[in-house]
Amino acid sequence: MRERKKSWEQKIQIVEASFRRASRQTGFARQFYQNLFFLSPKLKDYFQNTDFEHQEKALMRGLEFLIESLQPEQKHAKQQITRIAQSHSAGNMNIHPHSYYYWIEALIMTAGEFDSQWHKDLEYYWREVISAPVSFIVSQYFKG
Ligand code: HEM
Repeated sequence: MRERKKSWEQKIQIVEASFRRASRQTGFARQFYQNLFFLSPKLKDYFQNTDFEHQEKALMRGLEFLIESLQPEQKHAKQQITRIAQSHSAGNMNIHPHSYYYWIEALIMTAGEFDSQWHKDLEYYWREVISAPVSFIVSQYFKG
């Protein structure tokens, strides 16, 4: 086990760069949903009426907001995260908190497949960095 010496700001930068490399390639969102349904086939039930072409774009926009929201003074991205939290909450799409476990795993799996400079530590940086905004979304589940 090596000591973790990077600052929070450095980790955000590392994950953002990894996301830029990975999302530049075509097929990122498609693969994300394949991975998500591989990890938890039951989640397909939520997407019975979904137009995936539209949803793939929505996912990429959502990921942009998630990453941007980590920077200071990103009012717009933070508002968007709040909006997404509301649309996913119990009173709206009712995405159960436990589904986010698979969402995070699918995201890291996909980043690993699409980032040409992937290495093992990136997995930890991704998990650490996205845990804050994803926890926020989950925390709004009963409030929507
Ligand atoms: C932090 C994690 C997530 C982010 C950033 C995210 C992002 C988004 C965005 C941007 C949309 C488009 C609608 C909107 O803007 O409100 C959307 C729709 C949707 N999301 Fe998520 N999502 C997340 C987690 C999940 C999870 C865990 C599930 C459960 C499987 C899920 C299921 C859905 C469904 C069913 C839709 C609607 C699809 C349709 O229009 O038919 N999302 N999501």
